[in-house]
Amino acid sequence: MASDGSPLRDRLEAIRAAGLTAFAAAVDENDLESARVRYLGRSGEVSAAMASLASAAADERPLAGRLANEVKRELENAFENRVAELKAEGEPPGLRPDLSLPGRRTWIGGNHPVTQVIDEICEIFGELGFSRAVGPEIETDWYNFTALNIPLDHPAADMHDTFYLNDGVLLRTHTSPVQARVLMGSEPPIRILAPGLCYRRDPFDASHAPAFEQVEGLAVDEGIDFVEFRAAIDFFVRRFFGAGVRTRFRASYFPFTEPSAEVDVSCFLCDSSGCSACKGTGWIEIMGSGMVDPAVFEAVGLDAERYTGYAFGMGPARIAMLRYRIPDIRLLYEADTAFLEQFV
Ligand code: PHE
Repeated sequence: MASDGSPLRDRLEAIRAAGLTAFAAAVDENDLESARVRYLGRSGEVSAAMASLASAAADERPLAGRLANEVKRELENAFENRVAELKAEGEPPGLRPDLSLPGRRTWIGGNHPVTQVIDEICEIFGELGFSRAVGPEIETDWYNFTALNIPLDHPAADMHDTFYLNDGVLLRTHTSPVQARVLMGSEPPIRILAPGLCYRRDPFDASHAPAFEQVEGLAVDEGIDFVEFRAAIDFFVRRFFGAGVRTRFRASYFPFTEPSAEVDVSCFLCDSSGCSACKGTGWIEIMGSGMVDPAVFEAVGLDAERYTGYAFGMGPARIAMLRYRIPDIRLLYEADTAFLEQFV
């Protein structure tokens, strides 16, 4: 920067410009060292300019003094930077960053494999007009059992070996109480899916977890028959597991469906030739289901003569385990990011 006519400040500006250029132009350590001696050395140009401060005019001294310090500091920094640059350039290639390498991806998270399965189930049934519903994980025994035609002294209630919190208040043992809540709260036609956590007093071993997800499905309207039910499940199975996968309904029992069925799919892992996943049978069970029992309509105050419907419940963790061949359910519930990263 040109000064307002002070010869000393002009001289300092010239030293600054020349010094910066000399440091930047130094191609090796020797070069750089002679530039340092010339500008920053004990009898270098900066020192000489500072020495002449003493003989400068009194009103000139403070400004020139400040500028001299500034120039000195700036040249010292430029020198240090060039030292580091030359050093890096001289390092063997292995120690230098290889700018041609691909960038390192950091894992920013993703949906859990069980959540992915839930979302996919909801998406497929969404095409059939099902929307998502939620219910509380802390439930009353009325919704969890009684409304679903399970008397509290019924063996089905034992089967669920429940976590009770208080008299009549428990951690829900399945997502089926959401059926009763939705039926109480809205008029048919109803088509909902209710994914969520359930709790049972099960051991935490390779195939059981005391807290696990279920996805409940419920369709209620006038005129829904078993054919529509089968068609909906079949549509889902082929979309989810593959076009060639077949569905089998096996007679079963649930107090809140009549008739009831376990739904099996032909083993998509061995193409039904028999493997460890299907235990040699060629079939894999994926859900419990059935036509809504009229007793449920009565419990929630709906006209059991007018309405029919179907319901189903499946375990997305089990489905994720089958699909991704995960040998132990505990892997899904441990915060092991190395394992979970595989599913992103
Ligand atoms: N709630 C049942 C269970 O947890 C599954 C089910 C849901 C069966 C809906 C029929 C209809 O085993």
